[in-house]
Amino acid sequence: MCGIVGFTGKSAAAPFLLEGLHKLEYRGYDSAGISVIENSVINTEKTVGRIKALSEQTNAGALTPGFVGVGHTRWATHGAPSIENAHPHLSGKRKFAVVHNGIIENYAILREQLIGEGVKFVSETDTEVVPHLLEKYYDGDLIKAVSKVVNLLEGSFALGIICTDFPDTLVAARRFSPLIIGISENANIIASDVTAIASVTKDIIYLDDNEIAVLTPEKAEVFDLSGNKISKDLSKITWDVSAAEKGGFEYFMMKEIHEQPHAVKQTLSGRIKNGEVVFEDFSLTTEKLKSINRIVIIACGSAYHAGIVGKYVIEEMVRIPCEVDLASESRYRKPIINDKTLTIVISQSGETADTLAALREAKRLGSHTVSVVNVVGSSIAKASDDCIYTWAGPEIAVATTKGYSTQIAVMYLFAAWLAKHLGTKDDKYIADFLSEVKALPQKIEEILSLEGLLKEMAKRSVNDESLFFIGRNIDYAVSLEASLKLKEISYIHSEAYAAGELKHGTISLIEENRTVFALTCYKALADKMLSNIKEVSARGAYVITCANEGDTDFEKESNQMIYVPRVHELLVASTEVIPFQIYAYYVAYHKGCDIDKPRNLAKSVTVE
Ligand code: AGP
Repeated sequence: MCGIVGFTGKSAAAPFLLEGLHKLEYRGYDSAGISVIENSVINTEKTVGRIKALSEQTNAGALTPGFVGVGHTRWATHGAPSIENAHPHLSGKRKFAVVHNGIIENYAILREQLIGEGVKFVSETDTEVVPHLLEKYYDGDLIKAVSKVVNLLEGSFALGIICTDFPDTLVAARRFSPLIIGISENANIIASDVTAIASVTKDIIYLDDNEIAVLTPEKAEVFDLSGNKISKDLSKITWDVSAAEKGGFEYFMMKEIHEQPHAVKQTLSGRIKNGEVVFEDFSLTTEKLKSINRIVIIACGSAYHAGIVGKYVIEEMVRIPCEVDLASESRYRKPIINDKTLTIVISQSGETADTLAALREAKRLGSHTVSVVNVVGSSIAKASDDCIYTWAGPEIAVATTKGYSTQIAVMYLFAAWLAKHLGTKDDKYIADFLSEVKALPQKIEEILSLEGLLKEMAKRSVNDESLFFIGRNIDYAVSLEASLKLKEISYIHSEAYAAGELKHGTISLIEENRTVFALTCYKALADKMLSNIKEVSARGAYVITCANEGDTDFEKESNQMIYVPRVHELLVASTEVIPFQIYAYYVAYHKGCDIDKPRNLAKSVTVE
């Protein structure tokens, strides 16, 4: 987690650092700081709080002049949010300032050794060992000192480093944490992701693991850990800067909810040709596919929920057993994965530490790996054998919406692709299915018009202490996502339950006026859902049912209805999830919550 930025240029560093950190706040926001070199002295400002406070404290950077600097926005791992623990961290003689994203796993041993040598630590962080080690090993050769220290570190890190002996130089290094270099005429910069860079330049270099970048205003050079220069390709940021701005919406989450028709269209774009799915540059062959006897989908959070939708669709269309595993469980369980397993990992950010580790383990065990990722060039995208980008554009709100919608769209495409290559569905079925997939953006657009109604309805849940989402099959998969969405941004406890499982214990929690959302769009089990609704309504629940337009049978047993347009039975997740994203948003809105940055969370979970 955490966001880092760095700047070396011909203009003041602090305004860029503050602006860049503001863009990266979604990665963590419990404290922040910047360090800038002026007249060979490092000046540092920190705050426990948001970038806005840091900006006020520094008078928008005017109080920290200088042309080279680093900045950090923190999501606490080692030590509580405090001024001492906020980055940048400095070496004892204040020669080095360091910002870090990731976790240094062997910091305790390194810290003990340094303390034994008389070094005084001021923070509880893992990061602080880095500036002290740099000072210890520095003999006038900056790259040599950085290489030496990077070689000593275990774990994951993206580092931004400045040194008073090199007042125009910014150094960066990475291993398993994202770091991008931005190249422009008047400045060279670093950041944890492109959102912080895009307003300055569209020319970027992706730093790879175990590489060190040395930047001055005039040049950007990259070295390996032995000090050998490496030639790197320049890439272009392809999306518009405005995509990372709010564009008139009060919160990014609502903007991103409204972007879903376009985002899903982008996901499908160019991938459905002549009634079948085409994935460019795919290395997974039909021959290899035929040897596969099991599919394992690995992910975290909402991406895991997208995986559950994928399981239902793939098993129905392809008839291969498909398991969905939480990355944090899979990686430490000695998973039963081998060369006959196809592993799919799903991650919006492409940087989720558990998902990345589980992917690496699956590869090590001989599985062919396919990733479903939004952020281009991210670690997961690069580490997998094949990657299907979701093309959702930058997602800023911590609560994912378009990320999830585009992930399930990829699940549909992948299921159709598998069905075609394995011959489990005929060409007509696949073509008909894909034409329904293509119609989804329009259906999602129609549901967005329910916003006013849902805004009003959401007032009811402001006082709910706990509520339930129930469904079967894909409706159950959507219940999991709807429930997570509500709790993560509104802080109201909720549970998602497979409707048939309620009577095995949880129905005891149903009492007078308890809100229960019943999801009923998966038509094959609509009758069963009607019985489950009767069970909870008989016990006093206040039932809000989400049904396909025209399915009026539920009205009698429900207190309120939400209708969505009818789609192919296997695609209901795409329509059904939308009202619940909007409902969750407005519950949080009516409660006055910080919707884009819910407490204790961060967008990109790059620590395990
Ligand atoms: C959902 O709203 C979340 N913020 C979270 O569950 C997220 O989906 C999860 O952390 C996985 O992230 P990823 O897709 O970037 O790997």
